[in-house]
Amino acid sequence: MEIIIQPTYAGLTEVAAEIIRDALLKKPSLVLGLATGSTPIGVYEALVQMHQTEGLDFSGVTTFNLDEYVGIPSDHSYSYHTFMETHLFNLINIPSENCHIPQSTAVGHAEFCERYEAAIVAAGGIDIQVLGIGKDGHIGFNEPSSSLGSRTRIKTLTRRTREANAPHFGGTVDAVPKMAITMGVGTIMEAKQCLLLAGGESKAEAIANAAEGPITAEVPASVLQMHPQTVAVLDEAAASQLKRIDYYKEVYANKLELLAQEG
Ligand code: PGA
Repeated sequence: MEIIIQPTYAGLTEVAAEIIRDALLKKPSLVLGLATGSTPIGVYEALVQMHQTEGLDFSGVTTFNLDEYVGIPSDHSYSYHTFMETHLFNLINIPSENCHIPQSTAVGHAEFCERYEAAIVAAGGIDIQVLGIGKDGHIGFNEPSSSLGSRTRIKTLTRRTREANAPHFGGTVDAVPKMAITMGVGTIMEAKQCLLLAGGESKAEAIANAAEGPITAEVPASVLQMHPQTVAVLDEAAASQLKRIDYYKEVYANKLELLAQEG
């Protein structure tokens, strides 16, 4: 796993947005896997800025979101459909038919999940999968104990996840949906590149476990150690419990030096 440590959250968002921009400039029909939550918001802001100031063109891009709550309508103010429209889709030139988000209904979910997986394959697979990480090491809504080979399916959320998301639902944990549809860990692992983002001290333990701990279903993000191309972009606080901080910084400095030499 490549680990890039930036001094601040602003630095993290800049580096992550640049990785996506570079990939999009090379491949205008980029297939992006997208995440919701507070962490990627700054990355989406930076991409919107690039669209507005540099004309970064999203007209050929296809997106697949990781997850969606079950049991709230898609137009609910805290659905992930609404989140994506507010923070990205309505602010860039992506055709709405290119944007895929799991359907927020339990009825017919098994067929829906199969179709979602098939649509990812039909699009040629995900080029870059953006990921946040839960304090317990979840990715998407793959809670600890999720099969590391799991596919898109319905999952029950842990109390800890529902508590973390309660502020979006008026502060009451009981108002947070109990289930979600999420891409599986196995689905995520098929992305050509994973871009794991984490900011703040509250994520430090999860990041240390994911990057340097044993690979275990107890920390679903730890499976990314087996992914050939995962880049974790962190701020100092989220990196603070890593054992090899100096080494990761040296690796990144050398990479920048090489890139500068290549012009
Ligand atoms: P956050 O959520 O970005 O809001 O911290 C990440 C996650 O729980 O996956």
